[in-house]
Amino acid sequence: MPHDDAGVHWHEPKAGQKAGLGKFGRPAMPYDQFMDAEGIPVYRDIGVRTVRDLPLKPWARLGGRGTYIQLFGTEGLWGMYVVEVPAGGALNIERHLYEKMVLVIDGRGSAEIWQEGQPVRQTVEWQRGSMFPIPLNAFHRFVNATNAPALLLCGTTAPNIFNLVDNAHFVFNCPYNFSERYSGAADYFQARDEIAPDPVRGLAMRKTNFLPDVINCDLPLDNRRSPGYRRVEPHMAGNRFYQWIGQHETGRYSKAHKHASSAVLICLKGRGYTYTWPESLSATPWKNGTAEGVKRQDYEFGGMVSAAPMSGDWFHQHFGVSKDPLRLTAWFGANNSRARKPGVPGEKLTDRGAIDIKQGGDAIPYYDEDPFLRQEFETTLAREGVASRMNPAFYTGKATGDDEPGNVF
Ligand SMILES: [Fe+2]
Repeated sequence: MPHDDAGVHWHEPKAGQKAGLGKFGRPAMPYDQFMDAEGIPVYRDIGVRTVRDLPLKPWARLGGRGTYIQLFGTEGLWGMYVVEVPAGGALNIERHLYEKMVLVIDGRGSAEIWQEGQPVRQTVEWQRGSMFPIPLNAFHRFVNATNAPALLLCGTTAPNIFNLVDNAHFVFNCPYNFSERYSGAADYFQARDEIAPDPVRGLAMRKTNFLPDVINCDLPLDNRRSPGYRRVEPHMAGNRFYQWIGQHETGRYSKAHKHASSAVLICLKGRGYTYTWPESLSATPWKNGTAEGVKRQDYEFGGMVSAAPMSGDWFHQHFGVSKDPLRLTAWFGANNSRARKPGVPGEKLTDRGAIDIKQGGDAIPYYDEDPFLRQEFETTLAREGVASRMNPAFYTGKATGDDEPGNVF
């Protein structure tokens, strides 16, 4: 008779029975176990108003205080944390076999970056709004010489490697230099402003390993979603981790749509909120009395929301309500963006999120959306003293051409 390690007997199912428990609790994956073992909080939700609100605990491995963030729907796809670099202090040196993107939420300081055998450490000076990658497996150390603490938001591909090799020692102590990604060239972290078309979709791409100020930098016109929509995708450090920065016009909101999980929208400027709900609640949950299952996340600078949380395929809709335009950076982790997702090479892909549900797509047109959404948006804008730019024709189904905003992300 077979035995497992605990000596519990396994019995063949009798006639009419099936093997196994049928229902079971989801086990903690290696990355979940790793986060728990780090001794700092793990924040799990659909989003947060601003990461400045999250409680931080002393983090022995890094030498500062921090918290992990694992938004619903991103589990196993990519990871996040915030860490505080103490005033007049520094974090511990580390290197790791995962990619890391850094966004400075508060403060200023520097990062020393180098790889094994490199005689001189390179120094990157950062401030609030700087965004830059730590090249794969490069040594690095964050330093804060000011008299105020600094707060860094980091996105990583740590879940991918932890869930694959399940060995923290290997992840943090591999001697390999990925010199094809990080040459150590003197100008490696010099900011570059040149725009080129990305090789897959032809969208505006900036190949640079440092963005000094993503809050205020110029963004090239995109116009795909509405006149005036601006967007750039930085390609950084040869990463698979994907992100873009986009800005919406004040006074307009995007259509709802649904797709798989992975994108997290991080607010860089302005304020707003997102509604997200499972498609089982219908396209109009307020009208249909199913709004109890709708989730809402408000955000301001440093806030975030998982665009399609849970199992994915949740409808989501984003509303910017401040006088400032809503500027966001969207982070996707590795190999999750539409243009970088594995599949049969060469197959034709359709952006279903840009096609209305009545035409077989995944977007809810304005004239089919729940009236509550428009009403609340208009009321909120009036309260904020912001003029609405939602043309009544959008709700007739007769608005055509360039003037109609689209679903955005
Ligand atoms: Fe989306």
